[in-house]
Amino acid sequence: MTHRGWFPDSITGERIVLRRHMPENLLAFRRWYADPEVARLTRYQEGIMPVAEIDRFFQARVVGPDSMALAIHLRDSDRLIGTCAFSQLDGDNGSALYHITIGEKDAWGLGYGTEATTLMIEHAFERLGLHRVSLSVFAFNERAIRAYRKAGFVVEGRARQSIWRDGRYWDELQMSMLDTDWAVRERGPQTPGPGVVDVGRSSGSETIPVARIERTS
Ligand SMILES: CC(C)(COP(=O)(O)OP(=O)(O)OC[C@H]1O[C@@H](n2cnc3c(N)ncnc32)[C@H](O)[C@@H]1OP(=O)(O)O)[C@@H](O)C(=O)NCCC(=O)NCCS
Repeated sequence: MTHRGWFPDSITGERIVLRRHMPENLLAFRRWYADPEVARLTRYQEGIMPVAEIDRFFQARVVGPDSMALAIHLRDSDRLIGTCAFSQLDGDNGSALYHITIGEKDAWGLGYGTEATTLMIEHAFERLGLHRVSLSVFAFNERAIRAYRKAGFVVEGRARQSIWRDGRYWDELQMSMLDTDWAVRERGPQTPGPGVVDVGRSSGSETIPVARIERTS
C-alpha cells in the first residue's frame, strides 16, 4: 500500500482545509519557491530553487504515490496558500518528519500555519498512531518557531552554526512533539493506572496501528 492510503482526501479545520495536491498546483509551487524570502527561510542553499528542481520535488514529494503532502486551502474562498507534509515515516519507531510552507506571503502571521500544523499533528497521533513528530527550523525563522511552539512542539536540540545566511552562521533547531505531549494538550495530565505501561499510543477503532506503517527511510 502506498502512503496515499494513510491520508484522507481532506482534513477540515476551522479556517483551513487540507487537501491532496492537484497537478495544477505546480504553478503555485514554482511561484512560491522562486521567492527569495521563501527560499531564505526554507533552503539550505543560498538563492532560490531552480525551476527544474521545483518540478522534480513536486513530482516526487508532493504528488508522487509515496508522498504525504497536503495542500493548505482557506475554507472560505478555497484559495491555495501553501503545503504541509510528513516525510521519513518510520513505522519501526513510530516517527515522522514534518514540513510546512505557506507560499502566499500575505497569508503569513494569520494563524493558518499553526492551524495546519495542529491538524497534521492530530492526524499523526490520533489516526496514524505515531509516537513522535519532529522538525528542523533555522534559528532566525522566529515566525515558524513561534507557530511550532503554539502547536505544541518543544526545542530538543540545536545543530550549532549549521546554516550560513545573511553573512553569518546560525543554529538549526530540532523540535519535536510526542504522543504523550499531544495527549496532555488534548486531554490534560493523565494518571496511568496500575500496570499501564504504554501510555502514549493512540488507540480505538479509528487509529491505524503504527506497526502497519511501512518503513520509508
Ligand atoms: C512558518 C509558517 C508555516 C508559520 O505559519 P503562519 O501562519 O505564518 O504563523 P502563525 O500566524 O500561525 O503564527 C506565527 C506566530 O509568530 C508571530 N510572528 C509573526 N511574524 C513574526 C516575526 N517576523 N517574528 C517573530 N514572530 C512573528 C505571530 O504573531 C504568531 O504568534 P502569536 O499568535 O503568538 O502572535 C509560515 O509563516 C511559512 O510558511 N513561512 C514561510 C516558509 C517557512 O518559514 N516554513 C517553515 C520552515 S521550517
